[in-house]
Amino acid sequence: MSARLEAEHLYKVFGRREEQAVERLRAGADREELRADGTTAAVIDASFTVEPGQIFVVMGLSGSGKSTLLRMLNGLLEPTAGHVRFDGQDLTALSARDLRAVRANKISMVFQHFALFPHRSVVENAAYGLEVQGVAKAERLARATEALELCGLKGWEKSWPDELSGGMQQRVGLARALATDADLLLMDESFSALDPLIRRDMQDQLLELQTELKKTIVFITHDLNEAMRLGDRVAVMRDGRIVQIGTAEDILVRPADDYVASFTQDVDRSRVLTAAAVMDKDVRGDEADCGCESGCETATPDTPFTELCAISARLSHPVAVLDAQRQLVGVVPNRRLISFLGEEAARA
Ligand SMILES: Nc1ncnc2c1ncn2[C@@H]1O[C@H](COP(=O)(O)OP(=O)(O)OP(=O)(O)O)[C@@H](O)[C@H]1O
Ligand SMILES: [Mg+2]
Repeated sequence: MSARLEAEHLYKVFGRREEQAVERLRAGADREELRADGTTAAVIDASFTVEPGQIFVVMGLSGSGKSTLLRMLNGLLEPTAGHVRFDGQDLTALSARDLRAVRANKISMVFQHFALFPHRSVVENAAYGLEVQGVAKAERLARATEALELCGLKGWEKSWPDELSGGMQQRVGLARALATDADLLLMDESFSALDPLIRRDMQDQLLELQTELKKTIVFITHDLNEAMRLGDRVAVMRDGRIVQIGTAEDILVRPADDYVASFTQDVDRSRVLTAAAVMDKDVRGDEADCGCESGCETATPDTPFTELCAISARLSHPVAVLDAQRQLVGVVPNRRLISFLGEEAARA
């Protein structure tokens, strides 16, 4: 599978003598050293790939460089060094005109505060991206209506933006991005302004849409729980650098350093972890041979932790974890689950 989107040693420096600053960063200088000469190293040596249909989350504290990174991915900002490839095409090498065409047709952005046009109806707002693409009116209204329905806004087409709650307005923003058929969505803190329940609802909706639409999504957030829920892969940024890239589980169970570990200490692990993270992999073939009647319950490596507890409670022996070929890949003894919950409770 070839990568949909690829960032290769990306740097963005704001200020004087940018090239020279990149040289210093390559030699190991950090942000602080450059700041002394009034130069900001917003993004330092960022490399990653995003596969088709993946949600790639970029997480980090305020000022860590997330938005700057995102703006380089669609060419709104030109990297000081490095390359961005989208479907194998080097965005950094495109003319301004070609870049605009890629941005209008293939990439959609959803921001934190989605500014709707107040004097346009909801459906006209959702159709805006198509209007920019030059799609004829009847078609764009039909496609926007469809996108609104996907986002749970059926029946609101003719309303005005100020008749909608903040969460609903944000859905219009999402519908606008979906209506264009762009298959790369760049979402910068798109749900951060929403209150917690609506935010969770939007996350669920995005995940549900994603099972059907399979867009390639780069999602920026400073919220760890959101990152863990949404990300197929998660990159953690600190002071301009990506300090770890991995699955939510990698980040939680195998943090690259103390910074990542401290960042993740408040997460409810039992909601993220799966059997693969807690199982004992050191198994002998006969251990699955529990002596039960056939049909005894088993788990797979991606069985969620909570379900694993439920299965374990119904069995009088460890839970066998089987792969797709029904081969035993691990076992989870009851005490493993209990000690894990104990650690969680101690952490809280
Ligand atoms: N146009 C600019 N000129 C100068 N410095 C900039 C510019 N844009 C961003 N920066 C600086 O680059 C650094 C990274 O900013 P960026 O907006 O990418 O962070 P962020 O992770 O998105 O933060 P937040 O979570 O607050 O949105 C910051 O120190 C910021 O001040
Ligand atoms: Mg930002």
